Amino acid sequence: MSKYFELKLVEPEFGSNLTSLILELDHLRKKKLGGSTHPQVFFQLKHIFHTLESIGSARIEGNNTTIAEYIETKLEDNESPKGQGIIEIRNIEKAMAFIEENVEGYNINRMFVSEMHKRIVDELIPPPEGEGDHTPGYYRNTNVKIAKSDHVPPDWSRVDEFMDELFDLINKEDEPQYDLLKVAIAHHRFVWAHPFGNGNGRTVRLFTYAMLLKLGFNVNVGRILNPTAVFCSNRDDYYKYLSAADNGSKEGLLSWCEYVLGGLRHEIEKIDNLLDYEFLKSQILIPTINYSVEREFLTNLESKILKKVIEKQKIKSSDLKEIFKGKVSAEISRQIRKLIDKKMLIPIKEGKRTYVLRFDNNYLLRGVINSLGEKGFLPVRDE
Ligand SMILES: Nc1ncnc2c1ncn2[C@@H]1O[C@H](COP(=O)(O)OP(=O)(O)OP(=O)(O)O)[C@@H](O)[C@H]1O
Ligand SMILES: [Mg+2]
Repeated sequence: MSKYFELKLVEPEFGSNLTSLILELDHLRKKKLGGSTHPQVFFQLKHIFHTLESIGSARIEGNNTTIAEYIETKLEDNESPKGQGIIEIRNIEKAMAFIEENVEGYNINRMFVSEMHKRIVDELIPPPEGEGDHTPGYYRNTNVKIAKSDHVPPDWSRVDEFMDELFDLINKEDEPQYDLLKVAIAHHRFVWAHPFGNGNGRTVRLFTYAMLLKLGFNVNVGRILNPTAVFCSNRDDYYKYLSAADNGSKEGLLSWCEYVLGGLRHEIEKIDNLLDYEFLKSQILIPTINYSVEREFLTNLESKILKKVIEKQKIKSSDLKEIFKGKVSAEISRQIRKLIDKKMLIPIKEGKRTYVLRFDNNYLLRGVINSLGEKGFLPVRDE
């Protein structure tokens, strides 16, 4: 049986790495985001990262649905039957959207966690066959083991008590300098208590996402936050640092916090690059068009038009005149209409005649994923 340790915040040394991390993250949290990427373009990227985030979170336990496969199912019509792996990913995506939509209105409490868990295991077969749970939304009433881990979660009869204590800690007003430590400590304590029969990992990663949004890492004003990448790109490290914290020693908890916050800083810095349109254009979007032309998803004319769109970020039909030398303007309008129908152009606002590239829901998505992979934005799997 594991030793029960008291839930409390740990104090890093003032000169430690962890303190510097907290200061840096605090700076990133307050930093005004004024990137040059158009909101309409940014919004699509965020959507793609939600998907990647969900795939990353789902794959941690031998879910072999590859990114490519999932992307293809998104491009197919929505009514086709879905395998369990696809449902698992889709559940996480939906739960993330739910969190973002309700970020203002909720408290992170038992009801919230239970809501997350229900969504996470929805339509999934319970163990041992599947990745669902026997009691969606309810705490476990049996004792459990964690696969590939030595930690033995507390007796089921104490789950309630440990979880209430956890909610008290996170909802208590402390000095803001403790906020980020709380995020890390709460993540560990949650899985240490292991409140559910299954789905604890997926639920806790959303719980952490929600805590970060509450702290002001606000994804609605232009930031993409990808906390799962912290935990899921290297499962061995995740398990190693979790287990270091299991005995509740100050040293173990501090090393866990440093692992979580270091990973978070790395992710934020990396993804904030995409707000710089020059970077996005040259590293992701232009290569996407080249990729698509090579595979004949696009004609030469389409690629010329889309490259012009990418170069200027947003265009009006008059911007395309030089591509259509000697043609009447009705021909330009016709081509624009065609690309809108193919979901490759989208007006910056409904009814406006200024357009940006659309790449989140058509074959261009394959090229975007490919470029993101080449530039190190995808979760790498180390198995
Ligand atoms: N030593 C440990 N101490 C505390 N928690 C741990 C430890 N090792 C692993 N865990 C947690 O247990 C989770 C697995 O539990 P569970 O199977 O209930 O979750 P899941 O969502 O079904 O799976 P997964 O997180 O692997 O996708 C891991 O994701 C991790 O968060
Ligand atoms: Mg599991």
